[in-house]
Amino acid sequence: PEIDKVKKALKKKYETAYASLSLPHDTKQLRAVETLAKKYKKAGALVVVGIGGSDLGIIAIVEALRGKEHNVMDKKEIYFAETVDPFSIEQIQSKMKEHQKKKEKVVLIIISKSGGTTEPLVNFQVLLKTHKNQKNWKSHTVFITGKGSKLSQAADKLDCPQLEIPPLVGGRYSVFSAVGLFPLAVLGVDVRALLKGARDVQQDCLSKKTSKNPAALGAAIQFHHNRKGLNIFNLFLFNPNLEHVGKWYRQLMGESVGKEFNRTGKKRVHTGITPIVSIGSTDLHSMAQLYFGGPRDKYTQFITLHDHADKIKIPKEKIFADIVEDVQGKTVTDVMNAIEKGVHTTYKKLKLPHTKIELEKRDSYNLGGLLQLKMIEMIYLAFLLDVNPFDQPNVELYKRETKKILKGRNL
Ligand code: PA5
Repeated sequence: PEIDKVKKALKKKYETAYASLSLPHDTKQLRAVETLAKKYKKAGALVVVGIGGSDLGIIAIVEALRGKEHNVMDKKEIYFAETVDPFSIEQIQSKMKEHQKKKEKVVLIIISKSGGTTEPLVNFQVLLKTHKNQKNWKSHTVFITGKGSKLSQAADKLDCPQLEIPPLVGGRYSVFSAVGLFPLAVLGVDVRALLKGARDVQQDCLSKKTSKNPAALGAAIQFHHNRKGLNIFNLFLFNPNLEHVGKWYRQLMGESVGKEFNRTGKKRVHTGITPIVSIGSTDLHSMAQLYFGGPRDKYTQFITLHDHADKIKIPKEKIFADIVEDVQGKTVTDVMNAIEKGVHTTYKKLKLPHTKIELEKRDSYNLGGLLQLKMIEMIYLAFLLDVNPFDQPNVELYKRETKKILKGRNL
């Protein structure tokens, strides 16, 4: 029934809670994003201010496509101001000043759906002060927020460009809205391929044949293991540059199915699955003991990336041959594949439940598909767990308390 509901909702575009599924089809939004992004082709750097759903997806895609060291390797730098941390703010400020000295433009982007989250608004005010030393700072300050929010009103007052997040698109489902598309387009990421990847996978995820529907199948497997008492989901990413895909997913799962009440809001259920993120092979050296020998409370999904046109060969000279055997003349990828297979075989031998997704290529198309798959899978999983995947009422608790404390100056 949930597949039918999603299909019907898609026809109503942005009018239902499933609004985010219309984002990959929205050509009007894409035009608005690309038109504005074009203006910043020559910018030297971007500073993105946002938290949670307002930046995790962007970091995930940037790192997956350009690597964790993208700011060292790429011409156009991108910095993220997430939580409030004076050390990080000072570092970003000094980067902004460096660009100002070189007369290179920085684009300051504030992203907040509600327009009222404490951390981004604090960071933005501090960074805007530095940004104002840049000529044409107004045209280089972009607001991405909900229509009519206080932040949107501020953008109007300052006369800065702004892009809108549709009202029913929640933070953790917003990566295909201007939230993700605009910064990525300014960086030069192929956002059209990203959306195409999402559309193609979405099509599969609407199939009524569960065996042909990767999202329904994925949700059913998750649900099955959860009912058997496995309360932890381990997303095991066999690529260091996918770590933020894991962090993006953690929010998606944490906020979508971690609930106090059931879907109708009438029954207190305190349900959820705890997502954890592991990186292969790094975390084999810190967590494998627990995974292999510890409690049988986890269902694991491996995500691998097989696009290496790897020419890095381990030298044939046998300098260290006696220490690390059988690697001479092999590529680095050969070694990684051997580790991956070794882990897979161990999971099988130990009868630890696991599945695997293979990404064929490191590109926008495949990433768009992966993120869309995970979002629809989460909607189906929430249906099976009988919770609402789109709200996060308990998160508001700390936000309210923080505001009260700041008001009372009780620090
Ligand atoms: O998924 C969500 O809605 C949240 O995690 C938000 O993304 C996060 O709290 C930031 O909110 P906002 O974009 O309103 O500043």
